[in-house]
Amino acid sequence: MAPAPTTPDSPTSGSAPAHSMPEGDTLPTGDEKVEAVQSMFDAIAPRYDMVNRIMTFRLDVRWRKRTVADLGLAPGSSVIDLACGTGDFCRDLEAGGLHPLGFDLSWGMLDNARTTAQLAQGDALRLPLRDASVDGATCGFALRNFVELEPFFAELARVVRPGGRIALLDVAEPPNPILKAGYNVYFGKVVPKIGGLLSDKAAYSYLPRSLAYLPEPDAMMASLRSVGFDDAERNLLSGGITQLLIGTRS
Ligand SMILES: C[S@@+](CC[C@H](N)C(=O)[O-])C[C@H]1O[C@@H](n2cnc3c(N)ncnc32)[C@H](O)[C@@H]1O
Repeated sequence: MAPAPTTPDSPTSGSAPAHSMPEGDTLPTGDEKVEAVQSMFDAIAPRYDMVNRIMTFRLDVRWRKRTVADLGLAPGSSVIDLACGTGDFCRDLEAGGLHPLGFDLSWGMLDNARTTAQLAQGDALRLPLRDASVDGATCGFALRNFVELEPFFAELARVVRPGGRIALLDVAEPPNPILKAGYNVYFGKVVPKIGGLLSDKAAYSYLPRSLAYLPEPDAMMASLRSVGFDDAERNLLSGGITQLLIGTRS
């Protein structure tokens, strides 16, 4: 299903945010989080790719390629990309000879997607797919944005066939204390400023705060193993500023 066109307001620096993501220390939960996340990505979608490349010094491109390589599926395999955003992963999956299908909650992100892959609007926690119907799944920088992680992991285990693979990429706090200090300054102070200048300050202030949603690594890995990815492992990329969780459906 192709995404229907939407008309998200283009955010401009200094104007009131066109979304409901609260500023300050408050982090929304439950239905309020779903609405805030969806409206925030609708609002920042037109400039999302540009800001992403600038903020990560294009490392995000390298991280996604590594993720597709670690997925390790044969050409021709079907892969769902969950929270596909503007389709970056779908393009890399297609370049690797895989057959992606992207799902995202935000019509604005889908409307700004640059991919020939099939895309659909939908909730990654409630996929319109049969049990064991896909060979693999990817997810980029969205774990923090889901209302809960356990139902997401359970949904992955339901739709990925035995022997299928998952590769989930997200930000992380580097373990090295010096790197961590620099990272916290960059992520906590510089990123909101760049985001505010180029796109939407409230949205890019949410980014560092959203790290608090992520469970401790051990808890995340235990959850993944308990739903059926017995060999799940966590690899740190670029000194630990990003984490890649991979696993095989048992
Ligand atoms: C930071 S963006 C990442 C986009 C893309 N995966 C990438 O690597 O650039 C997070 C995306 O998660 C989507 N999202 C958040 N909650 C979702 C949900 N429950 N189901 C599907 N997509 C969701 C947002 O709409 C947004 O496009």
